[in-house]
Amino acid sequence: MFWKLLSVVSNSSSPIVVVLSGSMEPAFQRGDILFLWNRFRQNKVGDVVVYEIVGKQIPIVHRVLREHHSLIKQLLLTKGDNNPVDDLGLYNYNQLYLNKDEDLLGTVFGYFPFLGYITILITENQYFKYALLGFMAITTLLGNE
Ligand SMILES: *[C@@H]1O[C@H](CO)[C@@H](O)[C@H](O)[C@H]1NC(C)=O
Repeated sequence: MFWKLLSVVSNSSSPIVVVLSGSMEPAFQRGDILFLWNRFRQNKVGDVVVYEIVGKQIPIVHRVLREHHSLIKQLLLTKGDNNPVDDLGLYNYNQLYLNKDEDLLGTVFGYFPFLGYITILITENQYFKYALLGFMAITTLLGNE
């Protein structure tokens, strides 16, 4: 419900994302939570955007390196701050640019450091999940006394 509302307000199918890789260090670290807004009519060089290539279900957080625009559409070339080369190799075969309307989930307008690390640890690490559940169970038991 909350997610749906946020999604409509921000016009993004995924208004909150967690950074999963180190490709944007030092600006963003693995585990940072990013808030997206997808109602900007155009992006500027230097904006950090999240995109998802059609056919590849992986959201990528990178910075706009170059842009071309006409009245009706904007094309963007992106690159991770920490990557040696631009994202051309990540796009679909024969795709030279991102299409703002089709590929972008949104532009980063705010972030919360580190909190998303908990979700990364839970999804990537079974032991951490059980440890966390155990910890929560214990604190609940102690809290009830
Ligand atoms: C964003 O806005 C466009 C145009 O108004 C609309 O077609 C699209 O469904 C919206 N997307 C989301 C995720 O709300």
